Amino acid sequence: MVRLLRCLQMESERNAHRYILATVAVVGLLYLGFNLYYGSLRLEPNTWNSRPAKMIDHLYETDPELKAVHDRMVAEAESLSPDVTIVTAYYNLGKLNKGGMFGSYTPDRYKRWMSVFGRIDNPLIVFTDSPDIIDIFTSLRAGFPDEKTKIVPLNRTKLWSFSLAPEIKKVYSQPGYPKYDPNTVNENYSCVMHAKFELVNKVIKEKMFNTKYITWLDIGLFRAVISEKHKFPISVPADFDENKIAYSQQKSFQSHLTPFQIILEDRIWVGGAMFLGRPEVLFVYTQDYMRSVEQLLSLNMMSTDQQVIYIMYQPGFAYTPRVEIQTYTTHSSDDWFYLGYAIKEMWEMRIRRTVSVLKFMQTLL
Ligand SMILES: *[C@@H]1O[C@H](CO)[C@@H](O)[C@H](O)[C@H]1NC(C)=O
Ligand SMILES: *[C@@H]1O[C@H](CO)[C@@H](O)[C@H](O)[C@H]1NC(C)=O
Repeated sequence: MVRLLRCLQMESERNAHRYILATVAVVGLLYLGFNLYYGSLRLEPNTWNSRPAKMIDHLYETDPELKAVHDRMVAEAESLSPDVTIVTAYYNLGKLNKGGMFGSYTPDRYKRWMSVFGRIDNPLIVFTDSPDIIDIFTSLRAGFPDEKTKIVPLNRTKLWSFSLAPEIKKVYSQPGYPKYDPNTVNENYSCVMHAKFELVNKVIKEKMFNTKYITWLDIGLFRAVISEKHKFPISVPADFDENKIAYSQQKSFQSHLTPFQIILEDRIWVGGAMFLGRPEVLFVYTQDYMRSVEQLLSLNMMSTDQQVIYIMYQPGFAYTPRVEIQTYTTHSSDDWFYLGYAIKEMWEMRIRRTVSVLKFMQTLL
């Protein structure tokens, strides 16, 4: 009897072992499948990037402001650092209906995300009209030399982008206009998206930078790493074409979409949270963007920057952009912030490699 019980017990232990092994094998296979699937997506060719860059040199003759930017870049070629100046802004719009089931985007949430700016080791320019944001950024940047940070108080009432609010509100109030909250519902959200381009243009025009490259970063871009502690720099991404503007690509580009279709279906091509380029190219790009906004408004249409950019690169759109976009993507359809994280990762991999080489050399001593 005892022996029989022992036998049964051993049998059930063996079953438990088998069960655990089977579970581990199934989970392992699923994980392998997941990795193989997303790995294989990366092999997809990026046909968009095979488009040749458009040159802007001929524009120097007709655009004195652009010519001035270019002349400065040439004259200071030796003294400008190969760094990237980061431009960002915060304009409080109250609680935004974004984030789906994870709750809305509140001012407190944006403030938590800002903490990463205390670790980004780049020249930084911040525009805001909130005194508390000025205080937050002043203390966040205390660990860097003063000249690395410019906090610029700028009332939204002084901006072209916010001056469009009444007109955008009218567009959004048309009967039957699509209702994607906040994109096509909150006129101020649309305005603050257009402000990115206006502010980058201002930084370039008013010579507020001393580097060879400039990037726009949304406050929330590095939200995934707010718990880390180390400093890191943003540099120019791998294989960057100096005559294009770098963006993360969220979905592949479909041409022959009408402007209204893009807005009606809330379509996405590139993620608007970060773009990077040379000052001359960015100057032309931001001009093109602002002209496209005005073009769209004249057609009684509007949404956020992501739809405006998608629309302006449609071959059928009335305004043709004068510079090309270079996209960075893993083709996973979740690459909103890929460009920023790929740049950060590139730097961290180099650090890890240096550390292990140093350790190896220590063992030789
Ligand atoms: C911005 O300007 C408007 C209009 O001049 C004024 O009412 C408002 O108080 C200003 N805001 C800030 C934060 O200074
Ligand atoms: C947009 O901002 C203006 C001025 O601050 C405000 O009066 C208006 O209610 C805001 N609109 C929305 C949809 O929050």
